[in-house]
Amino acid sequence: MAIEETLVICKPDAVRRGLVGEVIARLERKGLTIEEMRLMRIDRDLAERHYAEHRDKAFYGDLVGFITSGDVAVARVSGESAISVVRTLMGPTDPVEAPPGTIRGDFATVITENLVHGSDSPESAKRELDLFFG
Ligand code: RTP
Ligand code: MG
Repeated sequence: MAIEETLVICKPDAVRRGLVGEVIARLERKGLTIEEMRLMRIDRDLAERHYAEHRDKAFYGDLVGFITSGDVAVARVSGESAISVVRTLMGPTDPVEAPPGTIRGDFATVITENLVHGSDSPESAKRELDLFFG
């Protein structure tokens, strides 16, 4: 048990589809706190640094292309076990596998357009929060 901070990104599909409020409301209703939030456009340089771990993957080009394709809403989110709690609310990476009740399970069908990013570990959270809110 520990209070943690994590980075949440409502990806361009969430902004385009008007689902930012839905995503953020779910985090708030769960008991997490939005500490800071803003709308921004991620440029190629920031996208490549954010997703550096995936540099050698086959889907990397699609991933960077998509995350830079429109505005995103980025948030610094805190709460008890916030990193794991956000990941649970998001659901699995592939929306086809994501159960109803999760964000990806309820609103997405395509793996690239899976609506939301959440840091996957304390180390990732620190690195990503420094990138977006440092
Ligand atoms: P994210 O980083 O965006 O929160 O997603 P995640 O942890 O659930 O998934 P991750 O493995 O970090 O992958 C990052 C994003 O890459 C896209 N992806 N495409 N085509 C594919 O096989 C594939 N695999 C991953 C997804 O959009 C995923 O969110
Ligand atoms: Mg990830």
